[in-house]
Amino acid sequence: MTNLMSRSMKGRIMESKTMENKSSMSAETKPQKDIAVLAYSGGLDTSVCIKWLQENYGVDVVAVVGDVGQEHDGLEKIKAKALATGAIDCLVVDMREVFAEEYLSKAIAANAMYENKYPLVSALSRPLICKHLVDAAHKYGAKYIAHGCTGKGNDQVRFESSVLMLDPELEILAPVREWDLGCRADEIAWAAAHDVPVEATTAKPYSIDDNFWGRAIECGVLEDPAIEPPSDIWTMTVDPQDAPDEPTYVDVAFEHGIPCGLNGVKMSFLDIVYAMNTIAGSNGYGRIDMVENRLVGVKSRECYEAPGALALICAHKALEDLCLERGVLHYKLGIEQTWADSVYNGLWFSPLKDALDAFLASTQQCVTGSVKLKFYKGSCVAVGRTSDYSLYDFGLATYDASDQFDHNAAKGFIELHSLSCKVWAANRLAMGAKMDSFAAVKETKCQFADNDDSSSEGGIPSAKMTGEFVPGGISSKCQLVDEDSIAHPHVINMADAVELETLA
Ligand code: ARG
Repeated sequence: MTNLMSRSMKGRIMESKTMENKSSMSAETKPQKDIAVLAYSGGLDTSVCIKWLQENYGVDVVAVVGDVGQEHDGLEKIKAKALATGAIDCLVVDMREVFAEEYLSKAIAANAMYENKYPLVSALSRPLICKHLVDAAHKYGAKYIAHGCTGKGNDQVRFESSVLMLDPELEILAPVREWDLGCRADEIAWAAAHDVPVEATTAKPYSIDDNFWGRAIECGVLEDPAIEPPSDIWTMTVDPQDAPDEPTYVDVAFEHGIPCGLNGVKMSFLDIVYAMNTIAGSNGYGRIDMVENRLVGVKSRECYEAPGALALICAHKALEDLCLERGVLHYKLGIEQTWADSVYNGLWFSPLKDALDAFLASTQQCVTGSVKLKFYKGSCVAVGRTSDYSLYDFGLATYDASDQFDHNAAKGFIELHSLSCKVWAANRLAMGAKMDSFAAVKETKCQFADNDDSSSEGGIPSAKMTGEFVPGGISSKCQLVDEDSIAHPHVINMADAVELETLA
């Protein structure tokens, strides 16, 4: 049976064991049902989906379980559950190596962080799972792809966009978005009434999605963004307070941007991610608590732990700092953000994301070398980096006697570099424009408030307020400085300053 079996055949696979066991009728005598391939996790939602699809769409369901390194109590158990719930077949696919080699390698090249914080844990796994769903649909001649995502998350967008970009003719079914099983109790009742096995587990207080790139934790008390995440949400990282009192150093080797060794030992990227999860996690590094902007317009409080991902991205960035030419490095920052947005928004298979990958791949040719990371009680810092492709030139950088930088060249460089703005400034002055001056603040270390002229409106004397930084904030005393001179500074307290600002 080839993967390219025409969908119009819509036939079930006759050599399927499940079918042989279940049906004594031949394919000719039994009317064939359409098939839906379902992304199956073994949880309550997708188990109910199997029965619900059968009842509401009259389809046969083929379940696909992707092993992307998530926590589970046995993939065979999940498969057995799918079959017991009525799926005509269940494919269990180990996607971990491909996930590392073809998905995470690109994420590393992009230093992928949505909103500069979230390393796209769930967003990265969806397109790979979809690839297998579409493959299964072709194999079984299925008409539909189904998923168990809700109507207000990002994952529905990722599943559907990915599927439709891989095969625009497939149709999508999204039972959880359609059914009216409002709360978990309703769903359990429906499951019980329809012979869907419900495990006697205590209701989990959080919604969790995980793979070996990290873990996403949502819902429950986390929905109040003012409340600190309870310690029971974390499983990949220890509390930084309980981390070892001695730092841990790790050398990460990269070849063409991809991690290829730890502490001098060659390892696969997949093994490195697993090892890094342990090293970074046991040092309390890798927790994220953020309010995130979902594609569907909702702000959502999300907690993640991604110890290995964050540590490897930290190391990768440090090596890029050394090896990438300035123009490439700066331009790449914008590309990285567009890449992360595209993947977050479900556009993994889009032509834009493909073109960005081509740019990123070109930048990684010389990102070969190694980085020393230092982990200590919740922090991870790159403290050393070396590469044969290093663009760091000691002779140019040093301030000691071996300095080779041509200091005289700087003069002409600055003249031309600032020439156009110098011409502009001369014109502004000639036109009588008032220029900013910092003379009035020369006695102080910082200037922190009301430095514009609007305060002189309405008869209130224009003032510059200046103060000092003290540990923990700005000193409660500040100077009120007359606009024209600093001859008579007088000390006021913050309350007065606030009042003055309000008046202004
Ligand atoms: N907000 C993240 C994302 O959109 C994580 C979603 C994970 N889903 C979950 N059930 N916790 O990528």
